[in-house]
Amino acid sequence: MDKLLIAGGQKLQGRVKVSGAKNAALALIAAAVLAEGETVLENVPRIADVEVLLHILDDLGAKVSWLEENTLALNIPAAVGIATPYNLAKRLRASNLLLGPLLSRRGEAQVPLPGGCNIGTRPMDLHLKGLQALGAAIELEHGYVKASGSPQGNRVYLDFPSVGATENIMMAATRAQGITVIENVAKEPEIVDLANFLNAMGAKVRGAGTDLIKIEGVPELHGTRYSVIPDRIEAGTMMLAAAITGGNVVIQNVINRHLQPIIAKLQETGAQVIEGEGELQVIGTAEIKPTDIKTLPYPGFPTDMQSQMMALLSLSQGTSVIVETVFENRLQLGEELKRMGANIKVEGQTAVVIGVEKLYGAEVKACDLRSGAALVLAGLAAEGETSINQVHLIDRGYEKLEEKLRSLGADMRRISVD
Ligand code: EPZ
Repeated sequence: MDKLLIAGGQKLQGRVKVSGAKNAALALIAAAVLAEGETVLENVPRIADVEVLLHILDDLGAKVSWLEENTLALNIPAAVGIATPYNLAKRLRASNLLLGPLLSRRGEAQVPLPGGCNIGTRPMDLHLKGLQALGAAIELEHGYVKASGSPQGNRVYLDFPSVGATENIMMAATRAQGITVIENVAKEPEIVDLANFLNAMGAKVRGAGTDLIKIEGVPELHGTRYSVIPDRIEAGTMMLAAAITGGNVVIQNVINRHLQPIIAKLQETGAQVIEGEGELQVIGTAEIKPTDIKTLPYPGFPTDMQSQMMALLSLSQGTSVIVETVFENRLQLGEELKRMGANIKVEGQTAVVIGVEKLYGAEVKACDLRSGAALVLAGLAAEGETSINQVHLIDRGYEKLEEKLRSLGADMRRISVD
């Protein structure tokens, strides 16, 4: 197990390039299974979650090779396997995104029911309701979800705009008989990226990014070459690293419109955000202002940035209220920040953050990917040394995080502990 040691107090300065989006890359890798033959994906981040999904694809018979650092070639066989292995799939909830593609390609699919994870129970009821609407028979046995049948176009209404459920139903519908209309869908940029990728493979997907997606089934899809969008959550994390250290950082390789909810909130805290062409500059302020956060599906404030904002607001000049509406257990960071001197009270889905003058370095642990990233931000601003445990959770979703932050002046290093 590794630890990150951070000596706080450095103002971050310089330029940093954002990697490809984890939550787009995972969906696109799963979607590649829809077409026999070769697909090449560019701008794929080398992160643990991607490596696990590629290991699963390998297990299903796909040929996986890295052509360059971030360029991936996938060769999908005619008889791709239908059952994802538990020992790998349990490490990655997103492995459930193989349900739709495997059902479409082979008429059957088996994925492990997701275990609970730190941020909540994360059921799959909306995924399964959608696939059943497309005619799939669903069985739950021995901890597995088994789907079978040949998808037929239909109308599906999602009770909640679930990102994963939207993606699974979209993928299952691409080669269904007839037309599928999905209502109350997720509108995240990663959904639009998936739709663009599917259309590049020969699918007919319309409306991604709106509340309603319409898909006309086609007989076959073909491999393609496609570049993954930049990671808006990594960009947001870097923006807050500049803000929390009172630094001045240019974040490159971003799609500004994906960052509007984060830019708006960050400006409310007093940071300056200067937008350029595919990049933005963040200039932090010594007087961080409080603000209130309510996480919502896109285009609301993203739940994946909530922990990072809690770290920033811990140092504000007032009181902030954070309401987490998307996951039922995503405020645990409060307990770790309190060990660094923060003043936070968590009641159910609400955290009241009373700003303090300083945070102090401490031995802390990541509970999940984003609370781990938030502890890095807190460590960058804290007085003294912070030691972060469970760093493998951060490695799930951030490519070369230490390298990038050190290039901006952060005093941090990774040590291995047994
Ligand atoms: C995706 O997870 C992201 N992961 C998450 O990012 C992100 O936080 C989440 O969307 C919301 O934006 C990937 O894309 C790989 P949901 P997903 O289905 O698809 C409930 C990160 O840090 N729900 O939109 O699992 C669910 O329990 C990760 O990068 C059901 O009740 O999210 C949750 O409370 C964390 N039934 C809410 O909906 C279902 O069938 C949102 O889940 C599905 C979901």
